[in-house]
Amino acid sequence: MDSSWFTRVFISGIVLLSGIVHAEGLALNVPDTMAARLRACAACHGRQGEGSSNGYFPRLAGQPADYLYQQLKYFRAGERKYLPMNVLLTYLDDHYLRKIAVYYATATPSALVRHTVASPLAVAGRDLALQGDAARNVPACVACHGATLTGMQPAIPGLAGLDADYISAQLGAWRTGIRHAQPPDCMQHIAMRLSASEIAAVANWLSMQPPPRDLAPMPRQPQPLPLSCGSAPD
Ligand code: HEC
Ligand code: HEC
Repeated sequence: MDSSWFTRVFISGIVLLSGIVHAEGLALNVPDTMAARLRACAACHGRQGEGSSNGYFPRLAGQPADYLYQQLKYFRAGERKYLPMNVLLTYLDDHYLRKIAVYYATATPSALVRHTVASPLAVAGRDLALQGDAARNVPACVACHGATLTGMQPAIPGLAGLDADYISAQLGAWRTGIRHAQPPDCMQHIAMRLSASEIAAVANWLSMQPPPRDLAPMPRQPQPLPLSCGSAPD
């Protein structure tokens, strides 16, 4: 991480905090829009959350607001770890985190930044994504993340447009206990039942699917989820 990059994020971190300074009546000379305040985030996630050339920085645009809000709280508490974000979010209150979540959930970038690399691994991941493996009680990814992979309201994220490295790193983080969600943690249940090569395969297949134009998550389905998820309760 070079120092000019650090300075850029640091300075825009102050702009981010200016949202709070404003609230206290000490206006800084910064345009008072969410896009201006979120410049620190745009450096990695894109101006409207569309992603950037680094596939490990996930797209945020169109993800369900409750999901984004919960993840921001995890990063602020240090329960999900990525140092630049842990630092930037430290002083932001719940109300501001909710505004940030809604900003990205309703952002409509003209296109997502994509990182597709065709991989022979993907073939083996297709069945897991579309059918799962009943013998091991692993449901299909699409049962919860949606047939077009845009997620489900109110708190299941879309997988469309995410990079294979990002997807496999998150599943790996669940396996090693670095990432967790509200219990019962359905994603941990799933990640623990997949081998490293299955994770690579399903991540590659998912990342190769073209994201639909409409990123809106599907509505909550009337039938229960195939596993209980504490972060998306029935
Ligand atoms: C230096 C790059 C960087 C900056 C700056 C940054 N992020 Fe992130 N963001 C990341 C990375 C990397 C991850 C994934 C971390 C992980 O779990 O390993 C992430 C994850 C997230 C997630 C979770 C997304 C998901 O799908 O689970 C949210 C929400 C988020 N960032 C919002 C923000 C906001 C809001 C800001 C500004 C306050 C911000 N980020 C600033 C790199 C960055
Ligand atoms: C029973 C429902 C369910 C099924 C089936 C399921 N997921 Fe999930 N998934 C979730 C929920 C809920 C979350 C959000 C967890 C949280 O709050 O952190 C999630 C989150 C994720 C994330 C994190 C996305 C991000 O933006 O950081 C990835 C990656 C993921 N799932 C991959 C998969 C894959 C691959 C499969 C299929 C092998 C799968 N999921 C099957 C419910 C499910």
